[in-house]
Amino acid sequence: MSNTNSKWSVSSRIFHWISAVLLLITWIMMLLNNNLDSNIYIGLHKAFGVSLLFWMIARVINRVFTKAPPPISMPKWQLLLSHLSHFGLYALLIAMPTVGLLMTVYGGRPVDIFGLFQIPVFVTPDRTLARFYNNLHTDIIWQAIIAFTAVHISAALYHQFVKKDNLIARMK
Ligand code: HEM
Ligand code: HEM
Repeated sequence: MSNTNSKWSVSSRIFHWISAVLLLITWIMMLLNNNLDSNIYIGLHKAFGVSLLFWMIARVINRVFTKAPPPISMPKWQLLLSHLSHFGLYALLIAMPTVGLLMTVYGGRPVDIFGLFQIPVFVTPDRTLARFYNNLHTDIIWQAIIAFTAVHISAALYHQFVKKDNLIARMK
């Protein structure tokens, strides 16, 4: 189909799929932490989460400096919704690990990144702020990520199986 010749750049495609994989791994580490009696998974949750933060910063820089393919034809409201939801996903994927990091350092704990280096406690520990960021992390931003991701994947499936316009091929 004609849409396949307006693909996302190789770098954008790599950034997209590795972000999705890092999000999945970070979440799985939290599931393992909640279900297994070991304290290594919370450390891995933090390290993968911080990796996603670095990855997202690089992704935004890449997004600014590479050209996005022209949008496929669709009603104006759908185009607007896609831009809003993509922007929301970027914002959420940056906010989530940032808030996770803040809750940890305000709790007075440094963050170990795979034993390679540590992010020190760069703030004055504050229990009230730590609790605030903790609530933001687990009760607000996470739910928003689930909602936006569900809409995003549903939209991709709608394009694939209902509109059959080969949209996913642009990101493959
Ligand atoms: C995009 C990245 C991240 C995602 C998607 C994520 C997701 C989550 C989720 C869903 C929970 C709640 C688990 C539950 O209530 O059962 C959680 C808890 C937690 N996260 Fe993250 N997280 C991310 C990044 C980080 C980072 C970077 C840190 C710290 C450096 C961190 C530290 C924590 C801690 C300490 C908890 C436990 C909080 C508690 O027990 O109340 N997270 N995370
Ligand atoms: C099965 C999973 C997924 C599929 C099939 C998928 C598919 C796509 C497609 C086809 C596009 C390009 C849309 C266009 O050309 O207009 C896209 C863009 C995007 N996706 Fe996904 N995606 C998936 C998972 C995710 C996840 C888990 C996230 C993050 C939570 C995500 C975040 C984004 C963002 C932020 C964009 C916008 C890219 C930009 O404007 O730079 N995707 N996705």
